[in-house]
Amino acid sequence: MMDIFVDTADLDEIKEAESWGILDGVTTNPSLIKKAASSEQGEMNLEEHISEILRTVDGPVSLEVTAVDQQDMVDEAETLYDKFNEINDNVVVKIPVNTSMGKNDDDFEGVKAIKSLSETGIPVNCTLVMKPNQAIMAAKAGAEYVSPFLGRIDDHIRDQMGLKRGEDYPKGTYYPSEMVERVRNYHIQRRISERSPEDIIYKDEESMELFYWGNDDGVLSGVDMVWSIKNILDNYTFDTKIIAASIRTARQVRQCAEIGVEISTLPFSVIEDMMSHHKTSEGMKAFDDDVIPEYRSLLRD
Ligand code: E4P
Repeated sequence: MMDIFVDTADLDEIKEAESWGILDGVTTNPSLIKKAASSEQGEMNLEEHISEILRTVDGPVSLEVTAVDQQDMVDEAETLYDKFNEINDNVVVKIPVNTSMGKNDDDFEGVKAIKSLSETGIPVNCTLVMKPNQAIMAAKAGAEYVSPFLGRIDDHIRDQMGLKRGEDYPKGTYYPSEMVERVRNYHIQRRISERSPEDIIYKDEESMELFYWGNDDGVLSGVDMVWSIKNILDNYTFDTKIIAASIRTARQVRQCAEIGVEISTLPFSVIEDMMSHHKTSEGMKAFDDDVIPEYRSLLRD
């Protein structure tokens, strides 16, 4: 069965999800730590806060490094591991697949650090995976987990289509890639009926633009990226597990489970949303109204 991690550094959320008995792990990152620190009253004791997260959950807890060079990342990973793993033996170190922040940066520091850490036995969650090829590199380097970012890829594809998050669609909305695909195919079919195939494939710039519209190098959505990574890893003998990350909707979680993804890491609100349906509440109310007193007392005496 798919494991469920909560994607937060907020202790109240972690404790609440843990109390439901369905929590298998936690993922954090610098932005989530910043968010938790800013919602804390008074100054946060970060070391104690992280220790408490580790004590609360008997499952992997991902803590991210901040460095960008191989050796510095390895050093930070060892510091995190040495300081915290003895608490509950559940520290996983998060390493970005690629630490480049601009054109002239080195693109391979992440995989180099993952390779070094895999030789020390410190478990690595390779983060910021935005395409299947990055997952291949991370798995080859020995990452125990790869985290493809579904929501950010959906944002990126919509951005390329001229749609702006916050203006054209709110953050939590499902990206209907199936519909986009149909619209694209409709336009391509119309062109095919009007022109010759070689015109469309080799000479017609507008058609070529249409070919790239609504996808990222052939990847149709965040869920599609996960499907591709799952297929690739299953083709070989990697032990690397997928943690579907940057999930924004319960529908994406369901699709990840349909694909057979090992783990999904979810904002607390998405875990809540997985449980609710207004017809369940309506049905609950109707059953409650219909309970006859004899039946209730039979159960309670
Ligand atoms: C992954 O572990 C990240 O913490 C996270 O899922 C990113 O989510 P966002 O794209 O909604 O910020």
